[in-house]
Amino acid sequence: MNLLMCGIIGYLGKGAAQESLIDGLKRLEYRGYDSAGVAFHEGNEFSMARETGRVKNLAESVHKKASSSSLGIAHTRWATHGAVTVSNTHPHMSQDGKFVMVHNGVIENFGTLKKFLAGKGISFVSETDSEVLCNLIAYHYSELPEGEDRFIDAVRSALPQCRGAYGIAVLCLDYPETMIGARRGSPLVVGLGEDANFIASDASAFVGRAKEAVFLNDGELAILKGNEFRISTMEGQETQAISHPVEQISEEVELGDYDSYMEKEIYEQPKALENTLRGRFGEDGTTAKLGGLEGHEDELRNLDRIIFVACGTARHACMVGEYLIEKLARVPVEVEHASEFRYRNSPKAGNSLVIAVSQSGETLDTLEAVREAKTKGLLTLGITNVVGSSLARETDGGVYQRVGPEIGVASTKAFSSQACLCAMLGLALGRMRDLSPTDGQAIVDGLNKLPKLVEEVLQKGDQIKELATKYSKAEHLLFLGRQSLYPVALEGALKLKEISYAHAEGYPAAELKHGPIALINPECPSVFIVEGTELSSKTIANMQEVKARKGPVLAIAPQSVEIPPEAADDIFRIPDAHEVIRPILANLPLQLFAYHFARLRGLDVDKPRNLAKSVTVE
Ligand code: M6R
Repeated sequence: MNLLMCGIIGYLGKGAAQESLIDGLKRLEYRGYDSAGVAFHEGNEFSMARETGRVKNLAESVHKKASSSSLGIAHTRWATHGAVTVSNTHPHMSQDGKFVMVHNGVIENFGTLKKFLAGKGISFVSETDSEVLCNLIAYHYSELPEGEDRFIDAVRSALPQCRGAYGIAVLCLDYPETMIGARRGSPLVVGLGEDANFIASDASAFVGRAKEAVFLNDGELAILKGNEFRISTMEGQETQAISHPVEQISEEVELGDYDSYMEKEIYEQPKALENTLRGRFGEDGTTAKLGGLEGHEDELRNLDRIIFVACGTARHACMVGEYLIEKLARVPVEVEHASEFRYRNSPKAGNSLVIAVSQSGETLDTLEAVREAKTKGLLTLGITNVVGSSLARETDGGVYQRVGPEIGVASTKAFSSQACLCAMLGLALGRMRDLSPTDGQAIVDGLNKLPKLVEEVLQKGDQIKELATKYSKAEHLLFLGRQSLYPVALEGALKLKEISYAHAEGYPAAELKHGPIALINPECPSVFIVEGTELSSKTIANMQEVKARKGPVLAIAPQSVEIPPEAADDIFRIPDAHEVIRPILANLPLQLFAYHFARLRGLDVDKPRNLAKSVTVE
């Protein structure tokens, strides 16, 4: 079986499709970069180019062939099963040469469908489920009478036979002016431009080329014909297309002077957080006002429990939220791996609220956790960065992060804004209960200072670069922190391992003595994140325990916390700040540490091996 996450783009317009497709693929490369391919409608045949490796390999071979076709589809692949080979690379062509198709998702019953098609004399050249779907469309086409709707009817006949998830773009040789897209489970968006229309996995693929984006819902088809388009259900009923402007994000996806999106996105954080915070405080300056929660006040006031569901970095932000919300609002909070929650029979306890957090809003496990929560009749809220994403559409309410597109696979500015929104949620819930106006005001003041303080920390980037240089030979590192800085330790370790491939683990500082201390030696540095509370002295004692065993210690600590010289080899200072923003400030040096550490090893921080930005399969 060939499971795919992948990015797809299709072009139908007046000019040559080639440049838009290759540019689009480059922007979608964050979704997968094992191999890439393109197919053009050339009148009486399809021309194809497919290469393993990055889109730049494909760009070179496409450039040599120079197609002038104005209708084409393209794909960048992330494979979990099935080798990274040219024959498994999309687009796939039907055996009769009449159809080409790109696919993002997985057709779970492809084995049965393959057997059925094999019985009809169809043979296959790849190991993929996608080639099966392409041939299934071709099979239905061959069974249908000629006519204007034959292409669309073939797609409509084939898709209901598929179990699983798909976002597809498909072309038929007999229809030189038509492209059809369809989605179930995998995202798909239509881009509308002056000279061309597009179908893509997300709007970043056609930024600068399309003015409006129309997001498809599950079970919908997009039929692009000439310069017209319509959206319909699988059964053929037309649905209303709601368009969103795309122009405003064009600059945000350009790299500018930065050498990677990760670096750019780290340094964008002051602005990004200003946007997260903007206009979201009550008039009396003592609470947060999150528009997406309006209408749910009674449910929020009477909550018995919050369950956060998320994956990876987003889950770490939720863990920060757990500490803050319990402290400010006294509501019990649980943080679940979305992939675990969706298969658990979590007991119903009073009025529970499920909050799903996902930068992309397309992480499959997170979406499935939301669906499971809804099945159980629970109220669901979403925190996401992507407007119109599946998470935004499927939850009962929610809040946008507003940090602009995050392209680097390593999540940075998204974490900061998610942690910030969790603090705001804690504040809002706290003020609905027994948090005093004075405490509320202090938190509002703290949050308002966040963008400025983030900028202050980032200005010391050179100091972090020196520290990363000093420790860059280490192959094993520990990250340690207490309370709301424990998730920061987890996040620091995750960031380092995902982009530098060094082994790193995060622990609560006091857990050290229950096992991890055995790892300590002069080659294994420990990064301690010091609180700036009454617990600081305990963390400093843990640092001394490491030093006593000849382990190198790097401390990240607020300005005013005194650290005896013998407790740390190096100290990076962050500004003193309100506890609700401390996790965000403490995480910044760890983002930069991972970034420089990986760059010093000559690695591509935006596209770490084996990873993809959105995990849209289980
Ligand atoms: O789009 P999401 O926030 O749902 O993504 C969740 C994780 O896949 C993501 O945070 C992942 O852990 C990042 N690569 C971490 O940097």
